[in-house]
Amino acid sequence: MSVASQNLMDNITYEDLYRRWEQGNWSAYDIDLSQDNKGWEALTEIQRRSAMWIYSMFFYGEDRVADTLAPYITAAPTEEQAYFLATQQVDEVRHSIFFHRFFKEVIGVGGETIQQTLSSTLPQLNWGYRGIFDRLDVMAEELRKDRSVPKYAQAITLYHLIVEGSLAQPGQHFIEDFFASEDTMPGFSAGMANVSRDEQRHIGFGVKVLSELLAEGKPGAEENRAAVVELLKGVLPYGPAVFYPPNQDREYTECYGFSLEDIFAFGLKLIRQRWRTIGFPTEEMPPGVFPFDPDATEEEVAARQVQMMMAGILGPPDGPAPDSSPDMQRLYFDLITRVADPAAANGSPLVYQWRFNDADPWHLIIDNGSTRAEPGEAPNPTVVIESSWADWIASGKPDANQLKMLVQRRIRPRGPIRELARMRKVFG
Ligand SMILES: [Fe+2]
Ligand SMILES: [Fe+2]
Repeated sequence: MSVASQNLMDNITYEDLYRRWEQGNWSAYDIDLSQDNKGWEALTEIQRRSAMWIYSMFFYGEDRVADTLAPYITAAPTEEQAYFLATQQVDEVRHSIFFHRFFKEVIGVGGETIQQTLSSTLPQLNWGYRGIFDRLDVMAEELRKDRSVPKYAQAITLYHLIVEGSLAQPGQHFIEDFFASEDTMPGFSAGMANVSRDEQRHIGFGVKVLSELLAEGKPGAEENRAAVVELLKGVLPYGPAVFYPPNQDREYTECYGFSLEDIFAFGLKLIRQRWRTIGFPTEEMPPGVFPFDPDATEEEVAARQVQMMMAGILGPPDGPAPDSSPDMQRLYFDLITRVADPAAANGSPLVYQWRFNDADPWHLIIDNGSTRAEPGEAPNPTVVIESSWADWIASGKPDANQLKMLVQRRIRPRGPIRELARMRKVFG
């Protein structure tokens, strides 16, 4: 960790964070929503549809984070952290109440109970979103049984850094911006400003906790880092797909004045800054955790991610058939070069050859620390993989059943047994 970011984290105490909570208390029932109906009616049809999509994610999310925080309080290693987490649980409940009121009083959907209104959000939650929130539910169960520090580090990473820091905050930022400048839904804007301020405090807490658990030289840092890396590898592939708009319709964000690229770039900037502050920068994590070019700008990375998502490569498994154009294959294999771990090659050169029955062949060479991918056939491949382009892409989705695909011979790897075993290590 740089001296500057270490100081930054040391200067914020858990006591400060608690005091800020007391000072920032607000009432979800005092927010005046009576003017918002007019503003809601004035939205265009696509803006209302988009709002239902985005607010459903917020409302369901607030409910889930309120419900899953209890085991964090009991697992916290210090009283100061436990107390802060207790204040945070109150905040999340308040956020959920605010969204429940908004759904009922302004949008006019849902029922008398929170549960009834929540069920109206379910059809809006996509594959990427469910992948992450299902993991959050499982994490709460894991933390109940295992209160160790590495498990706690994993749990804080998922909750505070991924859910709050990388998904909710970018969404809030753009939505808040729009309504603040339009000034047509004053109650919503006031509530969202309060929610955002609370979330900043929560994320600040998460960054502080992780800086104490993961920064080089901290006790247990190695073990905690390994636990966090394992979590990130499992859950990050769902991340971009959270923003995958219904029917791939870009109007869902553009009708509010921002593009998917804007939201990805904004999120990425936050991710890079925060992991740097924590003392575990993304570029120092093992290959494949954040598999993007460390020299590319956030805008460049965002543009590539959105392109691959809209082309059916990074998105949900039930999206469009993946594009196999030469440009898309290049983007995909560029990603693969960053996922492959050269250390697993153990000094000897490795050549992986892909033969697709419906797309151009490609190969990957890992040799003496340099990894490159090119179209066409390579001489003397270590392993040959045969499949269709669509099956290969499907096998890389985080919830893919790779064993079943092998048994069904939809993916057919050929090579010496020890090389097939090594391949699992190379690609994590
Ligand atoms: Fe919240
Ligand atoms: Fe929060």
